[in-house]
Amino acid sequence: RQVRVLGVPMDLGADRRGVDMGPSAIRYGGLAEQIESAGIDCVDGGDIHVPRPEERDPDAGSPTPGRAKFFRETKEVCEDVATAVDATVGEGGFPLVLGGDHSIAVGTLAGAARDDEDLGVVWFDAHGDFNTPETTPSGNIHGMSLAAVLGRGPFADHEWAHTPAVSEENVVIVGLRDVDEGERRLIRESEATAFTMSDIDARSAPEVVAEALEIATDGTDGIHVSLDMDWLDPTEAPGVGTPVRGGVSYREAHTAMEYVAEHHKRLRSMEVVEVNPILDQHNKTAELACELVASAFGKRVL
Ligand code: ARG
Ligand code: MN
Ligand code: MN
Ligand code: MN
Repeated sequence: RQVRVLGVPMDLGADRRGVDMGPSAIRYGGLAEQIESAGIDCVDGGDIHVPRPEERDPDAGSPTPGRAKFFRETKEVCEDVATAVDATVGEGGFPLVLGGDHSIAVGTLAGAARDDEDLGVVWFDAHGDFNTPETTPSGNIHGMSLAAVLGRGPFADHEWAHTPAVSEENVVIVGLRDVDEGERRLIRESEATAFTMSDIDARSAPEVVAEALEIATDGTDGIHVSLDMDWLDPTEAPGVGTPVRGGVSYREAHTAMEYVAEHHKRLRSMEVVEVNPILDQHNKTAELACELVASAFGKRVL
């Protein structure tokens, strides 16, 4: 299997600038070398075009002005991402999508699920990304992307964005610790499973991640792993757009990715998002992202 890297320099879904440099930072951080050190062949498919926020009006084309900023542009980018991911899968490649903010997951999953395989999702994140234009405190689409994949939120009447091949009961959020008021209710009422940091404290990260993978693989053909780098504690991953204290440690993150690697036969696609090198110390977060990708692809110490 060959990994095909796809960069999405997207920052329209977030307030803090700089995540658009994520794909460059991750490549510079040694992505190809790390993947190859896991014994996996890797090609780079370049970047998807993303318009600059300065050239656009966030409310132009938004059905809910102020409550889903850059809706039109996000939709266009995600459709392009979906097409590229779908083509990669069609050619037998493994799509590895580099963000960019987390809104791109709408495109990644639309593409990954297009051949109608049933997919489970493990969403490693401090946040639920389960807001809708009604509940969002920010209007930022990166806080709505998981809801969108499940047919709610800003793209609810857009067929391409809702991916019925992703069954809600096979969706698991891991590492949750920052949830907005209205979003909390939506997560609770959904059939998705959410493991908070308290669950990880009480049961250990490996145990929680093992159960998350069990849920995501239960009755599905494959899984998608969405790795928001703010899942980690900011001491390890300071270069992220929306850092939240109390995340997982360096070792816990590696162990989690090693567990993902054990399911390599089911792993269909992966994305790494929210790396912001502007806020970082010597590209530490991007380098860690590359290490974690290698662990997810089976790199081991011995
Ligand atoms: N919950 C907040 C919001 O909706 C923050 C979301 C952060 N999302 C992320 N992918 N980093 O605005
Ligand atoms: Mn996220
Ligand atoms: Mn997050
Ligand atoms: Mn199906």
